[in-house]
Order: sequence, then C-alpha cells, then structure tokens
Amino acid sequence: MMSTQIRAMSGLPADLAKRTGRVPLATLLLISGQLCHSPATAQDVDGARLFQQRCATCHSVEAGQNKAGPHLSGLIGRPAGTVEGATYSNAMRSSGITWDSQTLDTFLTAPGRMVGGTRMTVAIPNATQRAAIIQYLESQPAD
Ligand code: HEC
Repeated sequence: MMSTQIRAMSGLPADLAKRTGRVPLATLLLISGQLCHSPATAQDVDGARLFQQRCATCHSVEAGQNKAGPHLSGLIGRPAGTVEGATYSNAMRSSGITWDSQTLDTFLTAPGRMVGGTRMTVAIPNATQRAAIIQYLESQPAD
C-alpha cells in the first residue's frame, strides 16, 4: 500500500524498493521531506540511471554508435544535427542550436516546442530529472 503511494509520487523510490525489496523508514522520511519542503537537487537523482531508463534505447554515449537517435558522446558544444551517419529530421539539421546545459534543458522540456518537426518526442517534464540527465551527459568524456 505504502509502496503504491510512493510509486505514484516518483519512480525512484519504487526502483529502490525493487532493488532492496523494501523501503527503509529513513528513506521514506527523507523522500517525503524532500517532496514537501525542498526540491531534490540534481545530485540526489541518479542521472546515469535515468539516462539508461529514458534515453539509452535510442542513444549511446559511445562515439560512432548511432541507434534510432545519434550518439551523444561529446554532445556539449556540438552543433545540433551534425553526427555523421545519424538520421536527422530537416528540422534538427537546420535548427542552428549548439548543445549546452541551457539548450538541452529547453529541448528536453518539450522537444517539439524548441525544434518544430523533430523526430525526438521524448520529453522530461521534471526539472530535477532533466538536470540530472544533463549533468550525466556533461560528465561524459568528449570524443
Ligand atoms: C524513442 C527514441 C528516442 C529516445 C527514447 C530519446 N531520443 Fe533523443 N533523439 C531521437 C531521435 C530520432 C533524434 C533525432 C531527432 C531529429 O533529427 O529531429 C534525437 C535527438 C536527440 C538530440 C539531438 C542530438 C544531435 O546530434 O543534435 C539530443 C540532445 C537528444 N536526442 C537527447 C535525448 C535524451 C537526453 C534522451 C533521454 C531523456 C533522449 N534523447 C531520448 C530519439 C530518441
């Protein structure tokens, strides 16, 4: 019952419960404290794990490994739509965007709003999760 309620609030505690089989009381108190009083910071959220869950089906962080989406190695500072061998929409190719933490934040909030006609439709509406994913991408070595 408890875990159902928690899962409705956020995916992360449910994952924890899956891993550990139960959610320790201290964790519940910590999480409810964060939800009620101060928003969790990007450091508290595991960007690598979120990337695996939300992005890795279509994106690799290894240079040269394009999937449905272009590889995201060396993404920071890269002009949009320029990975060789990747399939892009004309919208992305001609967007004029250079990827940095700010442009990524705007894009991931609502891809189609920033790049009308983009083929990437996956949005991350949660700002903390977005920040964690962007931090993870920033931490990847450039190619
Ligand atoms: C269902 C597949 C899919 C998923 C899941 C997905 N993407 Fe994409 N992504 C794409 C496709 C396809 C493109 C190319 C879009 C275009 O050309 O319009 C793209 C493009 C991008 C680009 C632009 C890259 C460039 O070279 O200009 C970024 C950045 C990006 N995705 C980040 C992410 C992140 C971060 C996530 C996870 C939160 C994610 N994507 C999840 C399919 C996906």
